[in-house]
Amino acid sequence: MNRRYRKTIIAGNWKMNKTLSETRIFADELKSLMGRPKWCEVVLCVPYVNIQAATRLFKDCRVSIGAENCHYESSGAYTGEVSAEMLKELGVKYVVIGHSERRQYYNETDFTVNKKVHAALEAGLRPIVCVGESLEQRELGVTLELITYQVKCALSRVPAEKMRHVVFAYEPIWAIGTGKTATAQEAGEVCETIRTVIRKLYGARVARAVTVQYGGSMNPKNAQELLAQPDVDGGLIGGASLKPDQFVEIINAANQE
Ligand code: 13P
Repeated sequence: MNRRYRKTIIAGNWKMNKTLSETRIFADELKSLMGRPKWCEVVLCVPYVNIQAATRLFKDCRVSIGAENCHYESSGAYTGEVSAEMLKELGVKYVVIGHSERRQYYNETDFTVNKKVHAALEAGLRPIVCVGESLEQRELGVTLELITYQVKCALSRVPAEKMRHVVFAYEPIWAIGTGKTATAQEAGEVCETIRTVIRKLYGARVARAVTVQYGGSMNPKNAQELLAQPDVDGGLIGGASLKPDQFVEIINAANQE
């Protein structure tokens, strides 16, 4: 973390979990456990159908609501899809773009990721852009090249003045939901690479202000070590964000003075 130049963001990604009633129970529990985080922003990215309730439930505490995806067009004949504009009107602040599960199961490509980044920024949402390598790619030794390519594609034609709204999340695919975490050094190295790519594209001032999160089996035990890396500015948390006590412990790890 480097709080001098950029925000630390702890974001939960609920994926396809929690019904409306479970969301209510979670909100009560989280509010009873969580103080007022001073040093980090807390975000919960929830299924579309729970967004409206979540914005109401978390209104009186410092939790921003995010979506897990959006479409790249603002409206049109796209049955079953949701636009960034629709999310904005519900009070959504963040949107996860290009999660590896969407790349794997729903044909999300670096090209659609770029279009969605533009759509999110256009609507006034902050995209959390996910990048990450598979185990095979890591073993082939192409991780840093791949990440560089993904970051460049995501940012194509994004102007410098919009960059303060963009968040990146490094999520090694082999670490998601597996209990395997990247070592703090591995996470730090890739997050540093993401910032280097941004620096080459936009200059040092822009690069140092961008929040770069780590995601992949982050939990209360490993959070502190990961967050101690200078280029790891928070976490995108799946499993542990479904349990209020664990999520609060991670927030506390990010919130130490
Ligand atoms: P887990 O924390 O369950 O590994 O999920 C990480 C993730 O995919 C967050 O987007």
